[in-house]
Amino acid sequence: MKESNPITEPIGQNLIKLISNLCFSVFVFSVLIFTVIAITYQPPDPWLESAPALTKFFTKTENATFKDDSSILKTGEDLQAMPLAPLVPPVSSITEVVIEKSEEEVKNMTVTEKSDCDELRVVNCSDPRVLIAVERFNLRLFKSIVFLEYQKPVNGSKANECDVGWRFRNKKEKSWRKYRDFRRFRFGYGENCTYKIVRAGGWHSGFNARRSFRNRVNATSRSVGNPKVAPAFRDDEINDTIPTLGSLTNFRKGKYLYYSRGGDYCKGMNQYMWSFLCGLGEAIYLNRTFVMDLSVCLAATYNPSNKDEEGKDFRYYFDFEHLKEVASVVEEGEFLRDWKKWDRGHKRKVPVKKVVTHKVTPAQLKKDKSTIIWRQFDSPEPENYWYRVCEGQAAKYIQRPWHALWKSKRLMNIVTEISGQMDWDFDAVHVVRGEKAQNKELWPHLDVDTSPDALLTKLQGMIHPWRNLYIATNEPFYNYFDKLRSQYKVHLLDDYKELWSNTSEWYNETTLLNDGRPVEFDGYMRVAVDTEVFYRAKTRVETFYNLTKDCKDGVNTC
Ligand SMILES: *[C@@H]1O[C@H](CO)[C@@H](O)[C@H](O)[C@H]1NC(C)=O
Ligand SMILES: *[C@@H]1O[C@H](CO)[C@@H](O)[C@H](O)[C@H]1NC(C)=O
Ligand SMILES: *[C@@H]1O[C@H](CO)[C@@H](O)[C@H](O)[C@H]1NC(C)=O
Ligand SMILES: *[C@@H]1O[C@H](CO)[C@@H](O)[C@H](O)[C@H]1NC(C)=O
Ligand SMILES: *[C@@H]1O[C@H](CO)[C@@H](O)[C@H](O)[C@H]1NC(C)=O
Ligand SMILES: *[C@@H]1O[C@H](CO)[C@@H](O)[C@H](O)[C@H]1NC(C)=O
Ligand SMILES: *[C@@H]1O[C@H](CO)[C@@H](O)[C@H](O)[C@H]1NC(C)=O
Ligand SMILES: *[C@@H]1O[C@H](CO)[C@@H](O)[C@H](O)[C@H]1NC(C)=O
Ligand SMILES: *[C@@H]1O[C@H](CO)[C@@H](O)[C@H](O)[C@H]1NC(C)=O
Ligand SMILES: *[C@@H]1O[C@H](CO)[C@@H](O)[C@H](O)[C@H]1NC(C)=O
Ligand SMILES: *[C@@H]1O[C@H](CO)[C@@H](O)[C@H](O)[C@H]1NC(C)=O
Repeated sequence: MKESNPITEPIGQNLIKLISNLCFSVFVFSVLIFTVIAITYQPPDPWLESAPALTKFFTKTENATFKDDSSILKTGEDLQAMPLAPLVPPVSSITEVVIEKSEEEVKNMTVTEKSDCDELRVVNCSDPRVLIAVERFNLRLFKSIVFLEYQKPVNGSKANECDVGWRFRNKKEKSWRKYRDFRRFRFGYGENCTYKIVRAGGWHSGFNARRSFRNRVNATSRSVGNPKVAPAFRDDEINDTIPTLGSLTNFRKGKYLYYSRGGDYCKGMNQYMWSFLCGLGEAIYLNRTFVMDLSVCLAATYNPSNKDEEGKDFRYYFDFEHLKEVASVVEEGEFLRDWKKWDRGHKRKVPVKKVVTHKVTPAQLKKDKSTIIWRQFDSPEPENYWYRVCEGQAAKYIQRPWHALWKSKRLMNIVTEISGQMDWDFDAVHVVRGEKAQNKELWPHLDVDTSPDALLTKLQGMIHPWRNLYIATNEPFYNYFDKLRSQYKVHLLDDYKELWSNTSEWYNETTLLNDGRPVEFDGYMRVAVDTEVFYRAKTRVETFYNLTKDCKDGVNTC
C-alpha cells in the first residue's frame, strides 16, 4: 500500500480523527472481548496446558519463562476445533449399511447356487461371509472405533479359525491417522447361512494377517549406507524421510527463512513448540520455506540422567510427515550443504539478508527479495528467544500454525496398542505426585489426597469395581498403587514396557532414525503416552478438581 494523498485541510484532519477514534473504539472493544474470552475460557482438560492459556500467559509477561514443564502441551491434533476441513476422511468407514450391502450381494450369489449352507460346516476364510461376521462383531463391540478398511481374511492356526486385519481410527483422536489391528477369530455355524464368532482373540492376535500390512523396505535413516541398519521392517504408514531439494537449481529458485539456534535450545518442550511455531509462522507469513533443525535438545527434567540431552530427533516426538505435508520446510543439513555447494560453484553468491535482532519485525522483511533471510539470535537471554519475533505488533499478524504440529505417529502407535490391549474398555485416573506432593506450602493436601488409602476411597465412588483402571502418574514407585489392586485391574505405563523394549517395533524404528543407535524412551515420551492413554478412557478422574481441593498451580490460584 502507498501512503499518498497528504491531507492538509481541516476537514480531512477531522475525518482522520473521527476514523482513528472509531478504530480505537473498535480496538478497545475487541480487546475487551478477547479478555472476556480469555478469562472465561476453560481448557477442556484442566491438566493439560492449552494454547490459549499460554498465549494469555505470554502476553502478560515480557520475560516469559516456562516454569511448569512437567505437563505436556497439547499439539495440533488436540487443538483442532470442529472444522476438519483439510483432513477429509480418505476412505469411507465400514458401517452397518455397508455390511448389509455386501451381505445382500452374497445372498444373491448363494441363491443362484441353490445352496443349503452345507459348505459352512467347513470354515473357508475366503468366503465373504466370514468377513461380514467379523465386521458385524467389531462394530458391535468397539463403539469408539471407526473401521476404515479390512484386509482379506486368511487362515488362522486351526481349521475353524481365520485371521483378519483392518485399519481404523479412534473417534477420540481428531487427526485422521489410521492404525492397524489384526485379530484371530474362531467361527461357528450361525443361522440362515451365516457364520457366528465363538471366540475372538485380543489386540494383534491374528499374526497371519499381520504380514499383509508390512512392506519390506530399505532402511531410510539420515546417514546413507550404514551397514548396521540393514534392510528392516518399518511402519508402512510412516514416511518421515528428510526431503531433498533435488538439484542446486531448485535450491536457487527457493526462498528461505533460516533461524540460527537461539536461547530456546535445551529449554523445556513447551518453550520449544512455542518458539518453533513462531518461526514457522513467520515463514508462512513471508511465504518462505522454513529451514528446520531436526536435532532437538531435551531438557533435563525429561531425562532419566537429569541432564540436558542434545541430539534428539524431532521425529521421536512429532509427526514430521504431517509437517512436510502442510508446511514448506527443509532440513538444515540439506540446506547448508546446498548453500555451500552453490557458493563454491558460482561467481554470484546466494543473496542473504542477515537479521541480528528480533526487533526487526516480520513486516519489515516482507518486501525483502533475498534468497535467504537469516535470523541470528546472538544477544544475551532473554533477547535471544525465537518467540520474541512474534511478540508485540507481530503477534497481530503472525499466526502460529498449530495444525502443523502433531504428536509422533510412533508414540501414538504405542498409545493405540495400550488402549487396544484393554479393548478400549477402561477408566483412568491421573495421579499427580512428585515435587508438588512434597511441597506442602503450595499444595497442602495433595500428598494425603493421593495416598493409596485416599485414592481407593475416592475411586470407589466414581469407578465400578473390577474395571480396567489405567493410572497416569509421575509417581516413580511402581508398587505405590498396589492397594488399588484389591478393587481394580490396575494398569500402569510400565506394564507395557515391551512396547519400547529392544524387541519392539518402536525400538526398531527409532533406532533407524538414530543411525543404528538405540533410543531411550525418555520422560517426555512417557508423559506424552500417559496423557494420550488417559485421554482415551471412558471415565476420567483428575487429580485437581476430582481427588483434591488443592489448586493446580498452588494455594489461592483457583
Ligand atoms: C526483562 O529482563 C530484562 C533483562 O533481564 C530486565 O531489564 C527487564 O526489566 C525485564 N522485564 C520484565 C517485565 O521483567
Ligand atoms: C439382489 O437381488 C435382488 C433381486 O434379485 C435385487 O433386487 C438386488 O438389487 C440384488 N442386490 C445386489 C446387491 O445385487
Ligand atoms: C472358499 O471360498 C472361495 C470364495 O467363495 C472359493 O473360491 C473357494 O473355492 C473356497 N475354498 C474351499 C476350499 O471351499
Ligand atoms: C486354508 O485352509 C484350508 C483348509 O482349512 C486349505 O484348504 C487352504 O488351502 C488354506 N489356504 C491357505 C492359503 O493356506
Ligand atoms: C433367519 O431367517 C428367518 C426367516 O427369513 C428369520 O425369521 C430369522 O430372524 C433369521 N435369523 C437370523 C438370526 O437372522
Ligand atoms: C534396497 O536397496 C538395494 C540396493 O541398495 C536395491 O537393490 C533394492 O532394490 C532395494 N530394495 C527396495 C525394496 O527398495
Ligand atoms: C516419502 O515421501 C516423499 C516426499 O516427502 C516421497 O518423495 C517418497 O516417495 C515417499 N516414500 C515412500 C516410500 O512413500
Ligand atoms: C509464494 O511463493 C511461491 C513460490 O515461491 C509463489 O508461486 C506464490 O505465488 C507466492 N505466494 C504469495 C501469496 O506470495
Ligand atoms: C535386549 O535387552 C536385553 C536386556 O535388557 C539383553 O539381554 C538383550 O541381549 C537385548 N537384545 C538385543 C537384540 O539387543
Ligand atoms: C526388529 O528388527 C529385527 C532385526 O532387524 C527383527 O528381527 C525384528 O523382528 C524386528 N522387530 C519388530 C517388532 O519389528
Ligand atoms: C471430575 O470433576 C469434574 C469437575 O468438577 C466433573 O465434571 C467430573 O464429573 C468429575 N469426574 C468424575 C469421574 O467424577
